[in-house]
Amino acid sequence: MRYIGNKTKLLQFIENTIKEFEPNLEDKVFCDLFSGTATVAKHFKSKCAKIISNDYEQYSFILQRNYIGNTKDEDFTSLIERYDNVAGLHGPLTEALSPGGKEGRMFFTEYNAKKIDGIRDKLEKEKSSGIINDNQYYFLLCSLLESADSYGNTTGVYGAFLKKFNTRASGKLVLKAYQPELCNTKSKIFKGDSNVIIKSISGDILYLDPPYNNRQYSSNYHVLNYICDPSSINIKLNKQNQESKTALGTYNISKYSRKAEALKTFEELIANSSFKKIFVSYNDEGIMNLEDVKGVLEKYGTYHLRTKEHKRYKSNKETVNKSVIEYIHILIKEEQWVSKQLSILTRHIEKPVVKTKPKPLLSFSGSVGRDSY
Ligand SMILES: C[S@@+](CC[C@H](N)C(=O)[O-])C[C@H]1O[C@@H](n2cnc3c(N)ncnc32)[C@H](O)[C@@H]1O
Repeated sequence: MRYIGNKTKLLQFIENTIKEFEPNLEDKVFCDLFSGTATVAKHFKSKCAKIISNDYEQYSFILQRNYIGNTKDEDFTSLIERYDNVAGLHGPLTEALSPGGKEGRMFFTEYNAKKIDGIRDKLEKEKSSGIINDNQYYFLLCSLLESADSYGNTTGVYGAFLKKFNTRASGKLVLKAYQPELCNTKSKIFKGDSNVIIKSISGDILYLDPPYNNRQYSSNYHVLNYICDPSSINIKLNKQNQESKTALGTYNISKYSRKAEALKTFEELIANSSFKKIFVSYNDEGIMNLEDVKGVLEKYGTYHLRTKEHKRYKSNKETVNKSVIEYIHILIKEEQWVSKQLSILTRHIEKPVVKTKPKPLLSFSGSVGRDSY
């Protein structure tokens, strides 16, 4: 999937760096706390004993739930043909995202939007009547998200659509299978704010890939969230009572995307983490500079840095093809900080101090037996 900050091209760099400091991964708990497309968590799935992953966007939860949460040996691909042959339907996605709707938006052709609506409708019906189970549901929804994204009439993000349907968007959507790697790795998947989730987890390796500029994922990929849940479509109106041109509704604004808040939020995350080894992907164009990140990490243990030159993500052909320096900041957390956090975590588990009911967080535990936290 085309995604700002997707780490596909940096996986080897990330793996080499992690292995330099933690050569034996087989019995380790690995956490990807800003998972996005789940690319990094997926890469480490068969290499580690357990994967914890999280992101606060719904589409990311669906990708993680399929790629990381689905582990059993199930025949997923045979479902695809049945779903690919579904009849098109003029539903909420056709209305909001295609020329078939009253606003005439052009994120998808009318044919493709109707097909997405048709598949979406069948998925809910078959899930509620028990024809498909949860694992199959998430596999199919993930496959729909990935397939639909490859027919999106955009330059890569859904902040705008193109005025004419381009070649990739004009083709007739074919539902492809996006199969998870099948292995017995335990998993725990969350959909929540990383700074909240961190307080309830512990493990060996914490991989952090927070946003590095002020572009909001939530408003650049809202269309994917609509596909995940068409009932969440709630388009903003302007002062003249006109709907947002890009079908935007309310969206998450990350503290990591705000200069005034990023560093403080990052430090809070590091302080609250119960992981011995922490790896942070960032680059030289990020809103926190190298010295700031280093300064925070050094307070909690031994600091290292690894760098690599990398071509910048382009969502627009006119963007100059410039290189950026990719960083991996490494913190080997001092025992006192890890154990301090662990004791707080244990106290919370034994005797919850929060009296008010916490907001429900979407989470899935695919672990077999007792959790490590
Ligand atoms: C740089 S991207 C991660 C990319 C990912 N490593 C990949 O390869 O696809 C940052 C991610 O952080 C998520 N995010 C931003 N702020 C967050 C927060 N406070 N809590 C949880 N997730 C957050 C965004 O939704 C986005 O997916």
